[in-house]
Amino acid sequence: MEMHEKLKETTTYLRNVGVVAPQTGIVLGTGLGSLVNEIEIITSVDYASIPHFPLSTVESHEGRLIYGTLANKTVLVMQGRFHYYEGYRFLDITFPVRVMKALGVSQLLLSNAAGSMTPELPKGSLMLIDDHINFLPGNPLRGVNDPKMGDRFPDMSRPYSPEINALFKQVAAELSISLKEGIYLAVMGPNLETRAEYRMFRTFANAVGMSTVPEVIVANQIKLPCAAVSVLTDECDPDHLKPVDIADILKTAAEAEPHLTRLFKEVVARLP
Ligand code: HPA
Repeated sequence: MEMHEKLKETTTYLRNVGVVAPQTGIVLGTGLGSLVNEIEIITSVDYASIPHFPLSTVESHEGRLIYGTLANKTVLVMQGRFHYYEGYRFLDITFPVRVMKALGVSQLLLSNAAGSMTPELPKGSLMLIDDHINFLPGNPLRGVNDPKMGDRFPDMSRPYSPEINALFKQVAAELSISLKEGIYLAVMGPNLETRAEYRMFRTFANAVGMSTVPEVIVANQIKLPCAAVSVLTDECDPDHLKPVDIADILKTAAEAEPHLTRLFKEVVARLP
C-alpha cells in the first residue's frame, strides 16, 4: 500500500475516534512524560489499535496517542516514540509525523534525553536543538519518493524553526529556565558511546542521543515547522568517563521534567 493510502486510513480512523483539529503535535521523549498530566484529554488511543502504527517496545515509554487541550490549545501527543535500535524501520518511526501533519497540526515539538559532551551544559540542563548531525545508519526518505509526500531532496538549511526556537528562548527567559542552544548528534545505539566515540563526537556536536533526527527530517520534507529540546542526562567527558547508570539517567530526566513541562506548556500557549 502506498504511503498516502496508509495515511488516509490512519487519519480516517483517528478522526472517527475524535481527533478532529489538533494545532500542535508533540513527541514526548524521556523527560517529558508528566506533560500528559497537564493535558485535558479528549481522546487517548493505544498505538496498537491505530492502523499502520508500529508498536512501542521500550519499557520506559508508553505507547499512546493523546488528543486534548493544553493551555487552551488542542494538542496531539505521542506518549512514547519509536527508536531505530528497537528494530523499526525509519519509515515506521516517522509515520506518526506524517499523520500529525495530515490531521492539520501547524507545528511539531519534540523532546529527548541526550548525553552532554559540552562542559557548559552540565547534567540536568536543557538544550534547545539548533541543528543536528544524522549519524544514524539510514534515512526515512530513502526509497521511491511519493511526490504527494514532499520533495525528493528537502532543504535542511534551517531544520529547526527559527521562529519557534526564538519563542522557546523568550519563554525560557521569562520562566527563568536555563536553555542553551546546541547541536544534537543522533546515533543508532542502544549501547552508549565509547570514550573514543565521545572524543570524536564532541568535536561535531554538543549532545548525543538516539532519536529525534528521523522525525525532524520528515518534518522538513513535509514543511512542518518543528523544534526540539534535549534533557542532558549524563556528562560524557571521555577523560573522566564513568560507567553508565541508566537508573541515574532516568532520574536526571525525571528531575528536569517539571521545567521542561512548564516550558512546553507556555510555548504551546503562544503558538497558533
Ligand atoms: N549517548 C546516547 N544517548 C544518550 C546518552 C548518551 O550518552 N545519554 C542519554 N541518551
